[in-house]
Amino acid sequence: MNKLCQIAGLGICVPERVLSNHDLEQIMDTNEEWIVSRTGIHTRRILDASQGTSDVGFFAAQKAILDAGIDASEITHIFVATCTPDYLSPSVSCLIAARLGLSAYSGVSTISPTTKSLMCLDFNAACSGFVYGLEVARAFLALDSNAVVLLIAAEALSRRMNYNDRSTSVLFGDGAGAVVLRSKGDSFLTVHDVSCGTDGDLNELIQIGGGTNMNVVVGDTVKEDFFLNMQGRDVFKHAVRCMVQESLKLLSRNNLTIDDVDLFIPHQANARIIEAVGSRLEIPAEKVFTNVSEYGNTSAASILLALDDARKAGKVEAGKKTLITTFGAGLTWGSALLS
Ligand code: ACO
Repeated sequence: MNKLCQIAGLGICVPERVLSNHDLEQIMDTNEEWIVSRTGIHTRRILDASQGTSDVGFFAAQKAILDAGIDASEITHIFVATCTPDYLSPSVSCLIAARLGLSAYSGVSTISPTTKSLMCLDFNAACSGFVYGLEVARAFLALDSNAVVLLIAAEALSRRMNYNDRSTSVLFGDGAGAVVLRSKGDSFLTVHDVSCGTDGDLNELIQIGGGTNMNVVVGDTVKEDFFLNMQGRDVFKHAVRCMVQESLKLLSRNNLTIDDVDLFIPHQANARIIEAVGSRLEIPAEKVFTNVSEYGNTSAASILLALDDARKAGKVEAGKKTLITTFGAGLTWGSALLS
Protein backbone atom coordinates (compact mmCIF):
# COMPACT_ATOMS: atom_id res chain seq x y z
CA MET A 1 0.00 0.00 0.00
CA ASN A 2 1.37 3.39 -1.03
CA LYS A 3 1.68 5.54 2.12
CA LEU A 4 3.78 8.26 0.52
CA CYS A 5 1.26 11.02 1.19
CA GLN A 6 -0.80 11.02 4.34
CA ILE A 7 -3.23 13.58 5.72
CA ALA A 8 -2.10 14.29 9.27
CA GLY A 9 -4.35 17.28 9.97
CA LEU A 10 -7.33 19.11 8.51
CA GLY A 11 -8.81 22.52 9.24
CA ILE A 12 -11.33 24.85 7.65
CA CYS A 13 -12.41 28.46 8.00
CA VAL A 14 -15.47 30.20 6.61
CA PRO A 15 -16.35 33.87 7.11
CA GLU A 16 -18.98 34.65 9.74
CA ARG A 17 -21.19 36.69 7.42
CA VAL A 18 -24.04 34.65 5.91
CA LEU A 19 -25.54 35.61 2.54
CA SER A 20 -28.95 33.93 2.25
CA ASN A 21 -31.23 33.58 -0.76
CA HIS A 22 -33.52 36.11 0.91
CA ASP A 23 -30.57 38.55 1.08
CA LEU A 24 -30.04 38.04 -2.66
CA GLU A 25 -33.73 38.75 -3.31
CA GLN A 26 -33.05 42.25 -1.93
CA ILE A 27 -30.30 43.02 -4.47
CA MET A 28 -31.40 41.21 -7.65
CA ASP A 29 -34.45 39.83 -9.43
CA THR A 30 -34.39 36.30 -8.02
CA ASN A 31 -36.23 34.15 -5.54
CA GLU A 32 -35.62 31.38 -3.05
CA GLU A 33 -37.60 28.83 -5.06
CA TRP A 34 -35.56 29.36 -8.27
CA ILE A 35 -32.21 29.19 -6.48
CA VAL A 36 -33.01 26.14 -4.37
CA SER A 37 -34.66 24.17 -7.17
CA ARG A 38 -31.82 24.89 -9.65
CA THR A 39 -28.83 24.74 -7.29
CA GLY A 40 -29.76 23.35 -3.87
CA ILE A 41 -28.01 26.34 -2.29
CA HIS A 42 -29.60 28.11 0.70
CA THR A 43 -26.72 30.17 2.08
CA ARG A 44 -23.10 31.13 1.38
CA ARG A 45 -20.44 32.75 3.58
CA ILE A 46 -19.06 36.11 2.46
CA LEU A 47 -15.89 37.89 3.56
CA ASP A 48 -16.11 41.35 5.11
CA ALA A 49 -14.53 44.19 3.16
CA SER A 50 -11.50 44.17 5.46
CA GLN A 51 -10.74 40.46 4.91
CA GLY A 52 -9.08 38.59 2.05
CA THR A 53 -8.23 35.10 0.89
CA SER A 54 -5.12 34.95 3.09
CA ASP A 55 -7.24 35.57 6.21
CA VAL A 56 -9.46 32.52 5.81
CA GLY A 57 -6.46 30.55 4.51
CA PHE A 58 -4.42 31.42 7.59
CA PHE A 59 -7.13 30.41 10.07
CA ALA A 60 -7.74 27.12 8.23
CA ALA A 61 -3.98 26.48 8.28
CA GLN A 62 -3.76 27.12 12.02
CA LYS A 63 -6.50 24.56 12.63
CA ALA A 64 -4.86 21.97 10.35
CA ILE A 65 -1.53 22.40 12.16
CA LEU A 66 -3.24 21.98 15.53
CA ASP A 67 -5.13 18.94 14.27
CA ALA A 68 -1.87 17.37 13.04
CA GLY A 69 -0.27 17.95 16.44
CA ILE A 70 2.83 19.52 14.89
CA ASP A 71 4.66 22.76 15.45
CA ALA A 72 4.40 25.20 12.55
CA SER A 73 8.20 25.29 12.40
CA GLU A 74 8.17 21.70 11.09
CA ILE A 75 6.53 22.81 7.83
CA THR A 76 8.84 22.69 4.81
CA HIS A 77 6.43 23.66 2.01
CA ILE A 78 3.34 25.86 1.87
CA PHE A 79 1.21 25.43 -1.25
CA VAL A 80 -1.89 27.56 -1.78
CA ALA A 81 -4.51 26.67 -4.38
CA THR A 82 -6.50 29.77 -5.26
CA CYS A 83 -7.95 31.62 -8.23
CA THR A 84 -8.73 34.66 -6.04
CA PRO A 85 -5.41 35.67 -4.45
CA ASP A 86 -5.06 38.80 -2.31
CA TYR A 87 -2.57 40.20 -4.86
CA LEU A 88 -1.16 39.12 -8.22
CA SER A 89 2.07 39.25 -6.21
CA PRO A 90 3.15 38.50 -3.48
CA SER A 91 1.64 35.06 -3.18
CA VAL A 92 -0.95 34.08 -0.59
CA SER A 93 1.46 31.39 0.62
CA CYS A 94 4.08 34.03 1.49
CA LEU A 95 1.46 36.08 3.36
CA ILE A 96 0.37 33.04 5.35
CA ALA A 97 3.97 31.96 6.06
CA ALA A 98 4.60 35.36 7.62
CA ARG A 99 1.51 35.11 9.82
CA LEU A 100 2.54 31.62 10.92
CA GLY A 101 5.89 33.10 11.98
CA LEU A 102 7.82 31.11 9.39
CA SER A 103 9.76 33.83 7.62
CA ALA A 104 13.34 32.63 7.28
CA TYR A 105 14.69 36.09 7.97
CA SER A 106 12.80 36.69 11.22
CA GLY A 107 15.56 38.06 13.42
CA VAL A 108 18.25 36.63 11.11
CA SER A 109 20.47 38.76 8.89
CA THR A 110 22.31 36.03 6.97
CA ILE A 111 21.40 32.71 5.37
CA SER A 112 23.60 29.95 6.79
CA PRO A 113 23.70 26.21 6.07
CA THR A 114 21.42 25.74 9.09
CA THR A 115 18.79 28.28 8.02
CA LYS A 116 15.58 26.32 7.64
CA SER A 117 14.30 25.91 4.07
CA LEU A 118 10.71 26.87 3.35
CA MET A 119 9.16 26.87 -0.11
CA CYS A 120 6.00 28.95 -0.65
CA LEU A 121 4.05 28.49 -3.86
CA ASP A 122 0.61 29.52 -5.12
CA PHE A 123 -1.02 27.81 -8.06
CA ASN A 124 -4.28 28.30 -9.92
CA ALA A 125 -6.29 25.27 -10.95
CA ALA A 126 -9.55 27.05 -10.08
CA CYS A 127 -12.06 24.71 -8.44
CA SER A 128 -9.75 21.73 -9.04
CA GLY A 129 -7.04 23.29 -6.86
CA PHE A 130 -7.23 20.90 -3.93
CA VAL A 131 -6.97 17.75 -6.05
CA TYR A 132 -4.16 19.29 -8.13
CA GLY A 133 -2.46 20.26 -4.87
CA LEU A 134 -2.56 16.68 -3.62
CA GLU A 135 -0.65 15.61 -6.74
CA VAL A 136 1.89 18.44 -6.31
CA ALA A 137 2.36 17.45 -2.66
CA ARG A 138 2.83 13.80 -3.58
CA ALA A 139 5.64 14.77 -5.91
CA PHE A 140 7.41 16.85 -3.25
CA LEU A 141 6.99 14.14 -0.61
CA ALA A 142 8.54 11.68 -3.08
CA LEU A 143 11.53 14.04 -3.43
CA ASP A 144 12.00 14.36 0.33
CA SER A 145 10.46 11.89 2.78
CA ASN A 146 11.08 14.37 5.61
CA ALA A 147 9.01 17.10 3.94
CA VAL A 148 5.95 18.43 5.79
CA VAL A 149 3.57 20.08 3.32
CA LEU A 150 0.88 22.55 4.32
CA LEU A 151 -1.63 22.54 1.46
CA ILE A 152 -4.22 25.30 1.65
CA ALA A 153 -7.18 25.87 -0.69
CA ALA A 154 -8.60 29.33 -0.12
CA GLU A 155 -10.98 31.51 -2.08
CA ALA A 156 -12.75 34.85 -1.95
CA LEU A 157 -15.09 34.38 -4.91
CA SER A 158 -17.45 37.07 -3.62
CA ARG A 159 -14.80 39.61 -4.66
CA ARG A 160 -15.38 38.65 -8.28
CA MET A 161 -19.16 38.23 -8.27
CA ASN A 162 -21.15 40.44 -10.60
CA TYR A 163 -24.41 40.69 -8.63
CA ASN A 164 -26.10 41.94 -11.82
CA ASP A 165 -25.52 38.46 -13.28
CA ARG A 166 -28.16 36.48 -11.42
CA SER A 167 -27.52 33.09 -13.02
CA THR A 168 -23.90 32.96 -11.79
CA SER A 169 -23.63 35.15 -8.70
CA VAL A 170 -26.10 33.07 -6.66
CA LEU A 171 -23.78 30.07 -6.85
CA PHE A 172 -20.55 31.14 -5.15
CA GLY A 173 -19.27 31.75 -1.61
CA ASP A 174 -15.99 32.25 0.27
CA GLY A 175 -13.99 29.87 2.46
CA ALA A 176 -10.80 27.93 2.98
CA GLY A 177 -9.53 24.52 3.97
CA ALA A 178 -6.05 23.23 4.75
CA VAL A 179 -4.32 19.90 5.26
CA VAL A 180 -0.94 18.91 6.65
CA LEU A 181 0.58 16.22 4.43
CA ARG A 182 3.60 14.05 5.22
CA SER A 183 4.87 10.54 4.65
CA LYS A 184 5.69 9.66 8.27
CA GLY A 185 3.91 9.78 11.62
CA ASP A 186 0.24 9.64 12.60
CA SER A 187 -2.43 10.41 10.03
CA PHE A 188 -6.15 9.94 9.60
CA LEU A 189 -6.19 9.37 5.83
CA THR A 190 -3.79 8.24 3.10
CA VAL A 191 -3.80 9.68 -0.42
CA HIS A 192 -3.55 6.56 -2.60
CA ASP A 193 -3.83 7.93 -6.09
CA VAL A 194 -4.59 11.18 -7.92
CA SER A 195 -5.48 11.79 -11.56
CA CYS A 196 -5.79 15.24 -13.14
CA GLY A 197 -7.01 16.53 -16.51
CA THR A 198 -7.08 19.79 -18.45
CA ASP A 199 -8.67 21.26 -21.58
CA GLY A 200 -7.38 24.78 -22.26
CA ASP A 201 -9.34 24.98 -25.52
CA LEU A 202 -12.44 25.53 -23.38
CA ASN A 203 -10.90 28.33 -21.28
CA GLU A 204 -13.60 30.81 -22.29
CA LEU A 205 -16.38 28.88 -20.54
CA ILE A 206 -15.33 30.26 -17.13
CA GLN A 207 -13.12 33.30 -16.73
CA ILE A 208 -12.30 35.64 -13.85
CA GLY A 209 -10.98 39.08 -14.80
CA GLY A 210 -8.53 41.39 -13.12
CA GLY A 211 -5.41 39.94 -14.70
CA THR A 212 -2.89 41.53 -17.05
CA ASN A 213 -5.02 41.00 -20.15
CA MET A 214 -7.00 44.00 -18.85
CA ASN A 215 -5.23 47.20 -19.84
CA VAL A 216 -6.43 49.32 -16.93
CA VAL A 217 -5.14 52.78 -16.11
CA VAL A 218 -5.61 54.81 -12.94
CA GLY A 219 -9.14 56.20 -12.75
CA ASP A 220 -10.78 53.51 -14.93
CA THR A 221 -13.91 51.87 -13.57
CA VAL A 222 -14.18 48.10 -13.77
CA LYS A 223 -16.54 46.52 -16.26
CA GLU A 224 -18.28 43.14 -16.47
CA ASP A 225 -15.11 41.36 -17.61
CA PHE A 226 -13.52 42.10 -14.22
CA PHE A 227 -15.86 39.58 -12.63
CA LEU A 228 -16.45 35.84 -12.93
CA ASN A 229 -18.13 35.09 -16.26
CA MET A 230 -19.51 31.62 -16.85
CA GLN A 231 -21.48 29.89 -19.58
CA GLY A 232 -23.50 27.85 -17.10
CA ARG A 233 -25.19 25.32 -19.36
CA ASP A 234 -21.99 24.31 -21.20
CA VAL A 235 -20.10 24.18 -17.93
CA PHE A 236 -22.73 21.88 -16.46
CA LYS A 237 -22.31 19.42 -19.35
CA HIS A 238 -18.50 19.34 -19.20
CA ALA A 239 -18.43 19.23 -15.38
CA VAL A 240 -20.56 16.10 -15.26
CA ARG A 241 -18.68 14.38 -18.11
CA CYS A 242 -15.19 15.13 -16.76
CA MET A 243 -15.86 14.25 -13.12
CA VAL A 244 -17.51 10.96 -14.09
CA GLN A 245 -14.84 9.91 -16.61
CA GLU A 246 -11.85 10.86 -14.43
CA SER A 247 -13.34 9.02 -11.45
CA LEU A 248 -13.93 5.86 -13.49
CA LYS A 249 -10.39 6.07 -14.89
CA LEU A 250 -8.92 6.39 -11.39
CA LEU A 251 -10.97 3.49 -10.03
CA SER A 252 -10.10 1.30 -13.01
CA ARG A 253 -6.34 1.78 -12.71
CA ASN A 254 -6.61 0.83 -9.03
CA ASN A 255 -8.60 -2.32 -9.92
CA LEU A 256 -11.66 -0.94 -8.13
CA THR A 257 -15.26 -0.37 -9.10
CA ILE A 258 -17.74 2.20 -7.83
CA ASP A 259 -19.09 -0.51 -5.48
CA ASP A 260 -15.77 -0.40 -3.58
CA VAL A 261 -16.24 3.29 -2.73
CA ASP A 262 -17.54 3.97 0.79
CA LEU A 263 -17.92 7.73 0.44
CA PHE A 264 -18.04 10.01 -2.59
CA ILE A 265 -17.29 13.72 -2.22
CA PRO A 266 -17.70 15.60 -5.51
CA HIS A 267 -16.88 19.29 -5.99
CA GLN A 268 -19.69 21.21 -4.28
CA ALA A 269 -20.66 23.12 -7.44
CA ASN A 270 -24.40 22.82 -7.13
CA ALA A 271 -26.90 20.12 -6.21
CA ARG A 272 -27.89 19.31 -9.79
CA ILE A 273 -24.31 18.68 -10.90
CA ILE A 274 -23.69 16.55 -7.80
CA GLU A 275 -26.85 14.50 -8.45
CA ALA A 276 -26.01 14.06 -12.13
CA VAL A 277 -22.46 12.88 -11.37
CA GLY A 278 -23.68 10.49 -8.64
CA SER A 279 -26.37 9.08 -10.86
CA ARG A 280 -24.04 8.51 -13.86
CA LEU A 281 -21.54 6.80 -11.61
CA GLU A 282 -24.43 4.70 -10.24
CA ILE A 283 -23.37 5.32 -6.67
CA PRO A 284 -26.13 5.15 -4.02
CA ALA A 285 -27.25 8.62 -2.88
CA GLU A 286 -26.44 7.80 0.76
CA LYS A 287 -22.75 7.47 -0.17
CA VAL A 288 -22.65 10.94 -1.76
CA PHE A 289 -21.69 13.70 0.66
CA THR A 290 -22.82 17.27 0.10
CA ASN A 291 -22.90 20.51 2.08
CA VAL A 292 -23.43 22.85 -0.88
CA SER A 293 -26.73 23.93 0.66
CA GLU A 294 -24.82 25.74 3.42
CA TYR A 295 -21.70 27.08 1.68
CA GLY A 296 -22.51 27.27 -2.05
CA ASN A 297 -19.62 26.77 -4.46
CA THR A 298 -16.37 27.77 -2.75
CA SER A 299 -14.17 26.72 -5.69
CA ALA A 300 -10.86 25.15 -4.55
CA ALA A 301 -12.03 25.05 -0.92
CA SER A 302 -15.23 23.11 -1.59
CA ILE A 303 -13.90 19.56 -1.22
CA LEU A 304 -12.12 20.45 2.03
CA LEU A 305 -15.23 22.06 3.55
CA ALA A 306 -17.12 18.87 2.67
CA LEU A 307 -14.34 16.54 3.85
CA ASP A 308 -14.26 18.32 7.20
CA ASP A 309 -18.03 18.04 7.67
CA ALA A 310 -17.97 14.39 6.57
CA ARG A 311 -15.18 13.65 9.05
CA LYS A 312 -17.10 15.34 11.87
CA ALA A 313 -20.12 13.22 10.93
CA GLY A 314 -17.96 10.09 11.34
CA LYS A 315 -18.11 9.23 7.63
CA VAL A 316 -14.38 9.50 6.91
CA GLU A 317 -11.96 7.08 8.47
CA ALA A 318 -8.80 5.18 7.66
CA GLY A 319 -9.56 1.92 5.89
CA LYS A 320 -12.73 3.25 4.25
CA LYS A 321 -12.38 4.38 0.65
CA THR A 322 -13.27 8.00 -0.07
CA LEU A 323 -13.37 9.13 -3.69
CA ILE A 324 -13.16 12.86 -4.34
CA THR A 325 -13.58 14.55 -7.70
CA THR A 326 -13.57 18.10 -8.92
CA PHE A 327 -13.91 20.38 -11.93
CA GLY A 328 -13.26 24.04 -12.65
CA ALA A 329 -12.10 26.82 -14.91
CA GLY A 330 -9.27 26.05 -17.30
CA LEU A 331 -10.93 23.70 -17.86
CA THR A 332 -9.37 21.60 -15.13
CA TRP A 333 -10.58 18.50 -13.35
CA GLY A 334 -9.29 15.68 -11.19
CA SER A 335 -10.11 12.77 -8.92
CA ALA A 336 -8.32 11.30 -5.91
CA LEU A 337 -8.66 8.15 -3.88
CA LEU A 338 -8.25 8.45 -0.10
CA SER A 339 -8.56 5.85 2.63
N1 ACO B 1 -33.22 33.78 -10.32
C1 ACO B 1 -34.29 33.72 -11.11
N2 ACO B 1 -34.24 33.45 -12.43
C2 ACO B 1 -33.04 33.22 -12.95
C3 ACO B 1 -31.85 33.27 -12.18
C4 ACO B 1 -31.99 33.57 -10.81
N3 ACO B 1 -30.93 33.62 -9.97
N4 ACO B 1 -30.81 33.01 -12.97
C5 ACO B 1 -31.28 32.79 -14.20
N5 ACO B 1 -32.63 32.92 -14.20
C6 ACO B 1 -33.53 32.77 -15.31
C7 ACO B 1 -32.91 33.18 -16.63
O1 ACO B 1 -32.99 34.55 -16.84
C8 ACO B 1 -33.71 32.41 -17.60
O2 ACO B 1 -34.95 33.07 -17.80
P1 ACO B 1 -35.62 33.13 -19.26
O3 ACO B 1 -35.89 31.69 -19.63
O4 ACO B 1 -36.83 33.95 -19.05
O5 ACO B 1 -34.59 33.75 -20.14
C9 ACO B 1 -34.03 31.11 -16.86
O6 ACO B 1 -33.85 31.39 -15.46
C10 ACO B 1 -33.09 29.99 -17.25
O7 ACO B 1 -31.74 30.51 -17.22
P2 ACO B 1 -30.51 29.58 -17.45
O8 ACO B 1 -29.24 30.34 -17.21
O9 ACO B 1 -30.68 28.90 -18.77
O10 ACO B 1 -30.74 28.57 -16.25
P3 ACO B 1 -30.28 27.08 -16.10
O11 ACO B 1 -31.47 26.23 -15.95
O12 ACO B 1 -29.23 26.69 -17.09
O13 ACO B 1 -29.58 27.13 -14.67
C11 ACO B 1 -27.41 27.28 -13.70
C12 ACO B 1 -28.48 28.01 -14.45
C13 ACO B 1 -27.94 26.85 -12.33
C14 ACO B 1 -26.23 28.21 -13.51
C15 ACO B 1 -26.99 26.00 -14.49
O14 ACO B 1 -26.66 26.35 -15.81
C16 ACO B 1 -25.84 25.31 -13.87
O15 ACO B 1 -25.99 24.66 -12.87
N6 ACO B 1 -24.66 25.42 -14.52
C17 ACO B 1 -23.43 24.90 -13.94
C18 ACO B 1 -22.70 26.07 -13.41
C19 ACO B 1 -21.87 25.68 -12.24
O16 ACO B 1 -22.33 25.23 -11.21
N7 ACO B 1 -20.61 25.85 -12.41
C20 ACO B 1 -19.72 25.57 -11.38
C21 ACO B 1 -18.90 24.40 -11.76
S1 ACO B 1 -17.39 24.93 -12.31
C22 ACO B 1 -16.83 25.84 -11.08
O17 ACO B 1 -16.98 25.50 -9.96
C23 ACO B 1 -16.22 27.12 -11.46
